[in-house]
Amino acid sequence: MEEKDRQNSEKKLAAEKAVEFVEDGMTVGIGTGSTVFFAIKKLGERVQSGLKFSAVSTSESTSKLAVSSGIRLITLEEAVRIDLNIDGADEADRNFNGIKGGGGALLFEKIVALSSAKNIWIIDSSKNVEQLGKFPLPVEVIPFGYKRVLNIFKEMKFYPELRVKNDKKFLTDSGNYILDLHLEKIDNAENLDKEIKMITGVVETGLFINIADVIITGKNNSTQILTKE
Ligand code: A5P
Repeated sequence: MEEKDRQNSEKKLAAEKAVEFVEDGMTVGIGTGSTVFFAIKKLGERVQSGLKFSAVSTSESTSKLAVSSGIRLITLEEAVRIDLNIDGADEADRNFNGIKGGGGALLFEKIVALSSAKNIWIIDSSKNVEQLGKFPLPVEVIPFGYKRVLNIFKEMKFYPELRVKNDKKFLTDSGNYILDLHLEKIDNAENLDKEIKMITGVVETGLFINIADVIITGKNNSTQILTKE
């Protein structure tokens, strides 16, 4: 099997396993990305079979897909509580910390995650890492004065790169830019997160620390479920 096919099949396995946690009457947070895609499809199937739940979306792309799959969306404001949030990640370590934002939805994803009683991450096995940082760390910044923030990151030797898509500056759903930091390894994720968030103009970082409760990894033909104690 090609590497890409194997990853996709692991993503699907992890996503479908996470959907088993969804019960009647729940409010469910739905993340963003290619792994969550499989969760939305499965949730759509379960709606067809009679499952009743409401969902809070983390991005425009997820909203579109959810609605077309027959999932009832409510706003975060309308949600009294979010029982369960299902999302992907770009890297996850053994301490249940991770990097997210490869798809640029980190801000809404973090807000929904922090509003949820339980967070499940769904990943393929390539995303389990010993140390965070190989995946470039996305940082959402407001467009006004972003070059100053970029220069500060350069001085800090964080090797920032303004995210570009189709030859245009990538815009998040909030109309912000993303600076991807090429750190290679992160020794203290919590300190780094604080350090970055002190910079004026930074909106949020893709470091998700102490947020995930369960990590479901697709590995070959099965899933591994890790639950935080
Ligand atoms: C979206 O901005 C991200 O945080 C995704 O959750 C993360 O990048 C995982 O995406 P994939 O499932 O597409 O790898």
